Amino acid sequence: MNHLDPQRHVRGESQYLDDVPTQQGTLYAAVFESPLAHGVLTSLDVSAALAAPGVARVLTAANIPGHNQIGGIVPDEPLLAHGHVHFRGQPVALVLARTARQAHAALRLIHIEIAPLPIITDPRVAAAQGELIVPPRTFKLGDSAAAWAACAHVFGGVAESGGQEHLYIETQGAYAFPTEMGGVRIISSTQGPTAVQRHAAHVLGLGMHQVEVDVTRLGGGFGGKEDQATPWGCLAALGAFLTRKPVKLVLDRMADMRMTGKRHPYSSDFKIGLDADLKIVAYEVTFYQNAGAAADLSPAVLERTLFHATNAYFIPNVTATAYSCRTNLPPNTAFRGFGGPQGMFVMEAAIAKAAEELGVPASAIQRRNLLRENDLFSYRQPAELCHAEQAWDTAARQYDLAGLRAEVDQFNQTNQLLKKGLAVMPICFGISFTKTPMNQARALVHIYSDGSVGISTGAVEMGQGVNTKIAHVAARTLGISLDRVKVETTNTTRVANTSPSAASATADLNGKATEMACTALRERLLAHASTEYTLNYEGLEIRNEQVLAAGVPAGTDWEKLVSSAFWKRVALTENAHYATPDLHFDAATNTGHPFAYHVYGTAFTSVTVDCLRGTYTVDALRIAHDFGQSFNEVIDRGQIEGGAVQGIGWMTMEEISYNAEGRLLSNSLNSYKIPDIYAAPAVLDVHFLDTPGHPKAILRAKAVGEPPLMYGIGAYFALRDAVRAFQGHTALPFSAPMTPEKVLVSLYPEFAHEPTLSLREGTTTQSVL
Ligand code: MOS
Repeated sequence: MNHLDPQRHVRGESQYLDDVPTQQGTLYAAVFESPLAHGVLTSLDVSAALAAPGVARVLTAANIPGHNQIGGIVPDEPLLAHGHVHFRGQPVALVLARTARQAHAALRLIHIEIAPLPIITDPRVAAAQGELIVPPRTFKLGDSAAAWAACAHVFGGVAESGGQEHLYIETQGAYAFPTEMGGVRIISSTQGPTAVQRHAAHVLGLGMHQVEVDVTRLGGGFGGKEDQATPWGCLAALGAFLTRKPVKLVLDRMADMRMTGKRHPYSSDFKIGLDADLKIVAYEVTFYQNAGAAADLSPAVLERTLFHATNAYFIPNVTATAYSCRTNLPPNTAFRGFGGPQGMFVMEAAIAKAAEELGVPASAIQRRNLLRENDLFSYRQPAELCHAEQAWDTAARQYDLAGLRAEVDQFNQTNQLLKKGLAVMPICFGISFTKTPMNQARALVHIYSDGSVGISTGAVEMGQGVNTKIAHVAARTLGISLDRVKVETTNTTRVANTSPSAASATADLNGKATEMACTALRERLLAHASTEYTLNYEGLEIRNEQVLAAGVPAGTDWEKLVSSAFWKRVALTENAHYATPDLHFDAATNTGHPFAYHVYGTAFTSVTVDCLRGTYTVDALRIAHDFGQSFNEVIDRGQIEGGAVQGIGWMTMEEISYNAEGRLLSNSLNSYKIPDIYAAPAVLDVHFLDTPGHPKAILRAKAVGEPPLMYGIGAYFALRDAVRAFQGHTALPFSAPMTPEKVLVSLYPEFAHEPTLSLREGTTTQSVL
């Protein structure tokens, strides 16, 4: 079974926000942004803009009828700046005009005065000044301080990882309509329809019942629309509420890149201790997260970093501390992996550091310390149904790890200016929202009297194929053909109080709710069949649209059964609620059982570096992945391939660059490069591990959204391996992304004192590959 959407996508038939037919009288909105990263707003004059051609209204914080507040976890983020501005690109005013061109032209007529305040862009500087979003968190297992004495080897270092632009193809936007009785209806490109609904209601001073949010699909999300679709939804709603006209707000690409947050850059200190047999005895790590100017989802991202601080390894003594640091950048936010990748990068850097100092392969340390059944994570959940070693060993056999290593070494012995590198990247990723109450979902299933089926859930389709999976679950549970099933738009009036489509958990949560609703409907129809056709209820089933009694055709089919049930007034609608069982977590002690299960896998990354130019290719990515019992190998393989290449981009060519004034320099596709098909590995093999899956995964098919991103971390270490082969194994900083510029400097350490070759002001292009 294929993904249901791509044929419509390539024919241009799929409807995105911008394809919604425009209503007459629609006003177009443009956002006026703060031109400075920090300061006191002393004057804002919109009169000239208001007098400009086509302009209907110019809205500022003073026009907000309810609360000027959209902070999700911490109420520290105004919808429109008031009093202070905290980052460059912060929304200050909204122009509404008859055309988008007129709205944008009027922006230039707004006059703003800001008394500048000091600008912080570095998380360590923020931490030193006590600028923290929330108090620091520490996860602790054993006693690392006491354990150093027992270590044969102790190494320390610093590791830096950069931000990442989501670059969803569809930029942020919303289209809001006034509804009767003073409400609004918002079509939003959001992963979290309920978040948009809740905040819009708060901003407008309405009950949530007065705000309807509808989502057909997104042209990509990647976490960037989990929380950060909210301001645009709220602004469009504010315009529609105040003017009683439809208001459309769509960011252009450069505005989107300037105004929205990205993956959090981290700067971290690590210390690792091993015994003489390369067992990791102790690990201490301190993370400085660059949160940007408001909390957004940063505290939750920070927590997931701590949950993943030891990746796929068991370490008996761990102390992991994390600081969420307030800087004058756009608030950084969810991005596929949600802090996990940042934590795992530092763990791998610590292992690489130990391996390089000891002169042993990193893989020897990695393999020796993999999680085994019932090993404890630092938060005290045991690794259950653990496949870390199985993933590694299967990959090593399947792809001949020893042979790959020998090939690299032999190549490097006979080549001077080209060097190859290889790295192994095991992963372990926890599945569930770590905020336990969010692990709930609902499904509303209608069987229409002609036998067709409509399903509504809280799941948002953003290209990941969740609608295809939900349709599959329904068809399989009801015993009917897939073409009878339609997955409806995600709408807050049909399914309420939803969690965002995030945390890799959407198919599990909404799929389980769909399965429950369809099971109840099937059993009700079979009970009806039993009375209607005097059949023994035991042994009745629906298979391939036929009703079977003890495996024998009972003389009726799905359509007849549904029709007969309707005329006998049997309820053909069901609403089911699913809450993941057995989850708990105590944020006071940082212990509990926060995850339904973990996903495991191992990847081998092979690279070739041109040692004259610093350019490189990622030649091959070979992965053994724990899908459980995949019921859609096309979608699941696609998630692995896409996630891994996105991870490679984060670790190699994608470089977010702000100047000291907090101005984004990598502000377009001219200066920010993501992997294209030519940058993707020529060999991308995915081996499906033979594992039983998990009962808490939908149909035992494990969550697949975020875990593969972290295979990309291997690209960083493979490049490092190749560079070291050229430059004679001298010390290198752990600093991602490994851009061609950074590779070049690393190849020739004598240039390391030169000013950085990364993107500078005035630069319009960046040489990549
Ligand atoms: Mo995702 S990073 O949990 O929206």
